[in-house]
Amino acid sequence: MSKSLLITNARMVNEGRVTEGDLLAVDGRIAKIGSAISAPDATVIDAAGRVLMPGMIDDQVHFREPGLTHKADIATESRAALAGGITSFMEMPNTRPQTVTLAALEDKFTLARGRAWGNYAFYLGATNDNIDEIRRLAPNQTCGIKVFMGASTGNMLVDDPATLERIFRDAPTLLATHCEDTPTIRANEERYRAQYGEEIPVRFHPLIRSEEACWKSSSMAVDLARRHATRLHVLHLTTARELALFDSGPISGKRITTEACVHHLYFSESDYEQRGNLIKCNPAIKRAEDRAALRVALAEDRLDVIATDHAPHTLEEKQDPSYFKAPAGLPLVQHALAMALELVHDGVLSLPQLVQKVSHGPAQVFNVCERGFLREGYWADLVLVDMNRLQRITHDQLLYKCGWSPLEGDVLRSSISATVVNGELKYRDGNFLGAAAGMRLAFDRG
Ligand code: DOR
Repeated sequence: MSKSLLITNARMVNEGRVTEGDLLAVDGRIAKIGSAISAPDATVIDAAGRVLMPGMIDDQVHFREPGLTHKADIATESRAALAGGITSFMEMPNTRPQTVTLAALEDKFTLARGRAWGNYAFYLGATNDNIDEIRRLAPNQTCGIKVFMGASTGNMLVDDPATLERIFRDAPTLLATHCEDTPTIRANEERYRAQYGEEIPVRFHPLIRSEEACWKSSSMAVDLARRHATRLHVLHLTTARELALFDSGPISGKRITTEACVHHLYFSESDYEQRGNLIKCNPAIKRAEDRAALRVALAEDRLDVIATDHAPHTLEEKQDPSYFKAPAGLPLVQHALAMALELVHDGVLSLPQLVQKVSHGPAQVFNVCERGFLREGYWADLVLVDMNRLQRITHDQLLYKCGWSPLEGDVLRSSISATVVNGELKYRDGNFLGAAAGMRLAFDRG
C-alpha cells in the first residue's frame, strides 16, 4: 500500500514565490502541489497558514564519527538537525580516521545507513599526499573534496604549493575550501603569546585568525581556481574584504561559489565578552561591520549558501583556560534554520531569498538530485515553520550529545513545527516519529 502525506493550508515558499495551498507526498516524493487536493487515504497535517519550505540542506557539518564520538555521532547530531529543519547534510573529513581514502569515505556511508535522520553525504578530505585517491573519486560519488587551506581542528592542513596546484588542476569534482593563511595566524599567535602566555583572552581570536589571514588564503584559492577552471566552493566567509573576490548573481553562471555560516551572521566581536570560548571557532567571528557586509552579500547573491559548520566539542574541552587548547567550533544544527530566519525578521532577506540560501542554493551548488525544491516528482523533504512562535533556547531541550549551545538564553522569533524526510513525517512539535531513514544523497554533474 502506498504511503501518503497531505499538508493543507500551507504558505509554500519556493523558487521566488509564496503561494497558498496544499502539498501531497506519495511514496516519498512530492506527488502534487495545488489547492483543495483530495487524498482520502493520506495522513493529513493542517499547516494552518504556516510556512512550508523545502528542508534545509546543510553543506558543512562535523558529526565526529568515527573516532570522536565522545563529542557527537551521526545519530545524535542528525536527530538534532532534524528538529532544526535540516533534512540533508554534508559531513566533514576531520574524523578519526580522517576521511582521506575512498575506503574511509565508503565506510562513513555505511555508518550512516539506518542511523542518519536526514539524507547524507561525506566529503573526501585532501592531504599533502593523497592526490591519487582524489583522482580516483568518481564525480558523482559524493558532495565534494574538502581542502583545509588553513590549519584547524584535526590536523589536515594542505599547504604544499605544488600539491595545491595538482589538487585544483585534477579534482574530478567540486572543491570546498577552508581559507585561512596558517603562517599569518602563527605569527599573530606568537605576538599574543609573548604578551599573555598560554591564556590569551578569546576576544583576540579574531585578531589572531585575522582578516589578513582570511584574505590571503581566499585570494589564493580563487586564483588557483581561475587558473585551473576548478569548480570551487569557498566555505564560511567572515570578512567584508574577502567578499570583493566573488561575483554576485545566480549560481548557474558561477564556477566559484561561496558560503556563509549562521554564527557569523548572528554573532559579532562584542559577543566574546559574554560567551567566551563557546563562540570560539575557525574562522573567527569578526566585527559587526563584517557581519553587516555578509548580510548584504547574501541579499545581492554574492554569498550563495547559508550553512552551519556545526562543530561540537565537550563543554569541558571548551572551558580549557589555555587559548591554544580550547578547541574551536560550536554546535548549531538544532537552531540554525531559526537563526537564519532571524534575517527575515530583520528585513535582511525575504522568505523566498532565505529559502534560496538554505535549500535551493546548496542543491544547485552541489548538483544534488531531486531535492531542495518543492517540485512534483522531487523527494518530499519539507519543513513546516511557525514564523510567529518565539522559542527561548534552554539547556534542557538541547539534543546535542555535547549538551550545550552557544545560544542558551537567547530568544529566536520562529520555531520549527514539523520536518518531513523522504515523504515521512519524522518530527512534530518536539516529538520524533519512527526510525532514522535518511538516504545517501545523489549528485548529477553530467
Ligand atoms: O571552528 C571550527 N571547528 N572550524 C573548523 O574548521 C573545524 C571545526 C571542528 O572540526 O571543530
